[in-house]
Amino acid sequence: MDVKDLRVNGKRLQESLEIMAKIGGTENNGVQRCAATDEDKIARDLLSKWYKECGCELILDEMGNMFAIRKGKNPELGAVMSGSHADTQRPGGRFDGILGVLAALEVMRTINDNHIELERDLIITNWTNEEGGWFAPACMGSGVWVGNLTKEFAYARKDRDGISTFGEELERIGYKGTYPCSYKAWNIDAAYELHIEQGPQLYDEKLQIGVPKGILCLHWYDIYLEGTANQVGPTPMHGRNDALLAFSEMNLVVNNVTHQMGNMVGTVGEIQNYPNSRNIIPSKVHFTVDIRSWDDEHAQKAWEMMKKEFEIIAQRRGCPIRTEETWKVEHAPFDAELFDRVIQTADELGYSSKRMVSGAGHDMSEVNKITRGAMIFVPSIDGRSHVECEDTPYEDCERGTNVLLHCLIKSAS
Ligand code: HGY
Ligand code: MN
Ligand code: MN
Repeated sequence: MDVKDLRVNGKRLQESLEIMAKIGGTENNGVQRCAATDEDKIARDLLSKWYKECGCELILDEMGNMFAIRKGKNPELGAVMSGSHADTQRPGGRFDGILGVLAALEVMRTINDNHIELERDLIITNWTNEEGGWFAPACMGSGVWVGNLTKEFAYARKDRDGISTFGEELERIGYKGTYPCSYKAWNIDAAYELHIEQGPQLYDEKLQIGVPKGILCLHWYDIYLEGTANQVGPTPMHGRNDALLAFSEMNLVVNNVTHQMGNMVGTVGEIQNYPNSRNIIPSKVHFTVDIRSWDDEHAQKAWEMMKKEFEIIAQRRGCPIRTEETWKVEHAPFDAELFDRVIQTADELGYSSKRMVSGAGHDMSEVNKITRGAMIFVPSIDGRSHVECEDTPYEDCERGTNVLLHCLIKSAS
């Protein structure tokens, strides 16, 4: 068969997705499989089995990143890489991340079925803790791999309940490898990641393939407020140091500054209130701010404005404030040649496509720093993601994987 007539096995991809969706499956048809939890371990064990069935050499690095390697004819040439993440939000959907992991596996299976010899090594990956939902920050495995985070920082991160550390849990599930977690231990020529769009454009415009030119920057902050707890009854309203009230004003500041600045998004997604009792004045609040923009300086400026207003509110309400810059990844402009290759491949396959920008962060935000990177998007029904009803038709998964197959073959030959 002529290579250009090759197509993946959509049924097999669907089966793999359905089997994976059961691991951490929730009763509302979603998935909860946070990094370094028992569900993550079960998914990793299954991936290891599937990778070995493909005859791949399997490498596990110090951050639990999984690399399945298929040797090419000229191993001294840089390898071609594709993958994504098996961990999910809490709860999350059945496609975010895992589609890219299993699409890369389906490409490997299809290349094997057709006995294709590639010039370059083909490496398919499962990156650890892309979501950052249980152990913050996000893109932890790929972030250490490119040097944006240190191993020590990552290992020390506490889970959301402040009970265990990431390093302890990774060890406990048996996926703390010994291979150096660094891109310097690899020779990568190009990398692709298939992912659901997680937004409404493709679905609304009835288009089949999204081709992002890159990914917005992501800036994560943690803010801590100290108030004064007291009995809600006898304590007069004036003179209170109500940490939750101070937070309420700050939440509006995030929204107002974001609208004022434009060309960005700003969100308070997580909050903990202590002691969180209806008849005690709140004395401690922790909340998070997520800021994204194509323009890193613009995002930074927005944060400076928010922080200044937070300090005024904290002062006025007598609630001392502490802010932490938890995580930053620059906006990621993808490789122009690979970007064109994705568009051209979609055209050759007869799929409609659209150039766009990714508002969602991905491991490619990091991997793109050390090699030529590109992504392929497929539609999200109703533009929904990071929710249990996240859904993408299997035919779209198959189309996206066919684009990935031919991009990888072109780059690896
Ligand atoms: O936050 C993000 O966009 C990604 O899902 N971690
Ligand atoms: Mn994802
Ligand atoms: Mn996600």
